[in-house]
Amino acid sequence: MSNAPRPTVYIETYGCQMNVADSELMYGTLAAQGYDAVESPDGADVILVNTCAIRDHAEQRVIGRLGELRRHMKADTIVGVTGCMAQRLGPRLLEKARHVSLVVGPDGYRALPQLLDGARNGERGIFTTFDLEEHYEDVTPRRTDPVKAWIPVQRGCDYRCTYCIVPHTRGPERSRKLDDVVREVRQVVETGTTEIVLLGQTVNSYNDGTHDFADLLRAVGAVDGVRRLRYTSPHPNDFTPRVIAAHAEVGAVCEHMHLPMQSGSTRVLKRMLRRYTREEFLACVATLRTVMPSLVLTTDIIVGFPGETDEDFEETVSAVVEAGFSDAFTFKFSPREGTPATRLPAEDTVPDDVAGERLQRLIQVVRAQSREQNLALLGTRTEVLIERLARDGELLMGRTRDWKTVLVPGDASLVNTYHMVELTGTTGSTFTGAFVKDERASRQPLPMAG
Ligand code: 5AD
Ligand code: SF4
Repeated sequence: MSNAPRPTVYIETYGCQMNVADSELMYGTLAAQGYDAVESPDGADVILVNTCAIRDHAEQRVIGRLGELRRHMKADTIVGVTGCMAQRLGPRLLEKARHVSLVVGPDGYRALPQLLDGARNGERGIFTTFDLEEHYEDVTPRRTDPVKAWIPVQRGCDYRCTYCIVPHTRGPERSRKLDDVVREVRQVVETGTTEIVLLGQTVNSYNDGTHDFADLLRAVGAVDGVRRLRYTSPHPNDFTPRVIAAHAEVGAVCEHMHLPMQSGSTRVLKRMLRRYTREEFLACVATLRTVMPSLVLTTDIIVGFPGETDEDFEETVSAVVEAGFSDAFTFKFSPREGTPATRLPAEDTVPDDVAGERLQRLIQVVRAQSREQNLALLGTRTEVLIERLARDGELLMGRTRDWKTVLVPGDASLVNTYHMVELTGTTGSTFTGAFVKDERASRQPLPMAG
């Protein structure tokens, strides 16, 4: 064995959970080649920035950060840009940032070790080819969260929402084999993790050629030790009766769902090519609530999409109320180069100040609704899984099955344990809680199928 020090790699992750999972895969790929992960860019031999391209703002942040990272580089540090922005900009990134020597899209992480070898010899490399077979099946991800495992089950997207860059950055949809997903779930459960989050761009359209999403939910829910099962993000049109039925059968499926609505106006939805009307979306919500009466729903909404009128926006506001969302990620429309929405007539552009006002109003409506719902929960008891120390270091942060954040007193030894907690206070969005003295409830049987 050589005594040469092992090279170190630092990865900084932006964007969605799929990127978080991809960073774990990149660390895994590089660990297999002898790299050690480090938690800071200072002095790292390799710095990778795993990027998001969903809105211009996300890209500007990365550009700013790439400039800053220069200060952390040693003379021989290799800097690479990976993920959606790398895929989107390709060679343009190398022109923009002279200190970047690698640009690798979401299907190219297998090539990282070779590209890094090349970079050490002064080469600048780009890998942005899509690979419809790529699921990184043979890579063991380096997981850092002991509580929750984020498991990609599908990559890419076949919808063509007119605002969205993802089909360009992540390529066509493909699903992992059900057996491979189940094998990975068994592995993470063996390490003590009991919460599984299945990831995909439109995760409920999962289909591996033999099995659909209903089969997947049943198979993952049946793995011994899986106590909480979540998935993100579904598309309303992919809730087939089979998939809906599986929710009633699989006890581990949690009572929270993040279901992107984007707009509450049928006219705008049509221009977004979302493929559902306001009524169809609300009907989907009603069906889901029938199978899961205590379902908590959160969503994504875009305001200021080209052509959105005041009336359209009011439809969005009223749909937030009708659907009963408990929270929402709200965004101002950001035109993405090459997407169909950029070809809508210029006169349809919503002025920035109008979009800004709509965003503020929507945020207020969502906050008020969330506050009202949360106040009504004070005094109730619920199961909390402790995730980590809270930011102030004095309290613990945990989550309910329906994705509420609860702060409770305690120390780090309680991380990754389940407890019954009484909700004692709320800021409107998060809760404080107290352990219920009679902890028999925390030894309650695992949720059963059926
Ligand atoms: N502008 C603003 N928001 C967008 N999203 C996707 N594309 C855009 C865009 N061009 C939002 C959608 C999506 C979330 C991840 O980001 O709401 O659900
Ligand atoms: Fe994730 Fe979409 Fe951002 Fe890519 S563009 S990192 S898929 S949110």
